[in-house]
Amino acid sequence: MSFEYKVADLGLAEAGRHQIRLAEHEMPGLMSLREEFGAAQPLKGARIAGSLHMTVQTAVLIETLTALGAEVRWASCNIYSTQDEAAAAVVVGKGTPQDPQGVPVFAWKGETLTEYWDCTEQILTWPGDEGANMILDDGGDATMLVHNGRAWEAAGQVPPTDESDSEEVGVFKELVRRTLAADPKKWTKVSEQIKGVTEETTTGVHRLYELAATGDLLFPAINVNDSVTKSKFDNKYGCRHSVLDGLNRATDVLIGGKVAVVAGFGDVGKGCASALAGQGARVIVTEIDPICALQAAMEGYQVARLDDVVGIADIFVTTTGNFNIITAEHMQQMKNKAIVSNIGHFDNEIDMAGLAKVPGVTKTEIKPQVHEWTFEGGNSIIVLSEGRLMNLGNATGHPSFVMSNSFANQTIAQIELFTKNDDYDKQVYVLPKHLDEKVARLHLDALGVQLTELTKEQAAYIGVDVAGPYKPEHYRY
Ligand code: NAI
Repeated sequence: MSFEYKVADLGLAEAGRHQIRLAEHEMPGLMSLREEFGAAQPLKGARIAGSLHMTVQTAVLIETLTALGAEVRWASCNIYSTQDEAAAAVVVGKGTPQDPQGVPVFAWKGETLTEYWDCTEQILTWPGDEGANMILDDGGDATMLVHNGRAWEAAGQVPPTDESDSEEVGVFKELVRRTLAADPKKWTKVSEQIKGVTEETTTGVHRLYELAATGDLLFPAINVNDSVTKSKFDNKYGCRHSVLDGLNRATDVLIGGKVAVVAGFGDVGKGCASALAGQGARVIVTEIDPICALQAAMEGYQVARLDDVVGIADIFVTTTGNFNIITAEHMQQMKNKAIVSNIGHFDNEIDMAGLAKVPGVTKTEIKPQVHEWTFEGGNSIIVLSEGRLMNLGNATGHPSFVMSNSFANQTIAQIELFTKNDDYDKQVYVLPKHLDEKVARLHLDALGVQLTELTKEQAAYIGVDVAGPYKPEHYRY
């Protein structure tokens, strides 16, 4: 079998396969979905374009989707987040590096922005007339390419590159311009085949709700992020684990006793603050939302403005999903060798473009994805992953068990949208609570959890069914 793919080195496939095998053991949710749905093949006929960090855990997701009948093409949703051995193993599949028989993957660690968008285009460009009919997205880049490509196509032109465009926007426009020059109807054709998208993260979900609000959403969407078993687990406990992994692998600095600023106290911020405090750091939180600020205060964290504490902290982690949180001015006021990092989805939480423009600043690579920026006065700061999400750029992202929860939701959402497509309008939906509870249930045995069963009388007393759902929609966990 021959197919197109682009990864770093197929020779890494064996190493990747060993890691995937161990990850499968830690991903009971995905493995039990394979058992439950393997024979029925609910995703037969689904052609899924996946844009999500190409890690070992994602490899288990991809192979779950194919085990359920789907055809898949995959790219990473970040230039640094691919684990090359996982990408190689997925391409090789049951074949050999000389005769790969797996899934077309277009991803490697350290892509340029141009390569990144080329890879995203590749997952939406299938051989033959039949294109992708489902998107599985993380952060919304694949969905954005389809929407913006089609909008610019309808307007008859791509807006010319503007001087104020970031490098990212310039590269993106260039890609759309090139694809439209090759086929002026490309994005209409692509979008018309797509039945829906399932979106992994807060930032991507935000983009989907904006499209739905203006009536511009081209197909139905399931917001996987807001399944309780996703955002209250992956965002929180996943980051509680992987924020430290990123800091340790990048710098190995002792965290105990240091002052750490966590910008944002949403799900990701809660996990990061707890991890840093667990290591003995004195954690300071910044927030704009009074509820989250009060939560942080009740947890015992100091809540302050970044401007007031920027000169005393040793470690900074941004978790807001917002932009311009740490400015170039902030970075010049920091302590010598302060560590500056972001774990939110995009790289604009830290003003990297502004940092590069500070007069006299120099950049030294300590190792890939770890850079020392030295200011004219001699002070320097250490920036992780060029401001991109450090838990995937400097480490390998969240561990398998937590991703099993997120990806079980993704798999169920793909089945739901693909098999019951007519039930969904061009809106954004969350999975029903009984499926959320099902995902949690799939992970209890592995942790030795003994769940108490309601008696019929107790169930009637609190007004629920013995089999669930146990909470009303508005319950916040
Ligand atoms: P969230 O909405 O729960 O939390 C963000 C918090 O930041 C909110 O409480 C908000 O009030 C606060 N905030 C906004 N602007 C701020 C400002 N200027 N200063 C201080 N605080 C501010 O979102 P969540 O789920 O915590 O996600 C945050 C980001 O992390 C998103 O971009 C999401 O996509 C990403 N993410 C990254 C993961 C990773 O593995 N690296 C995993 C999950 C999510």
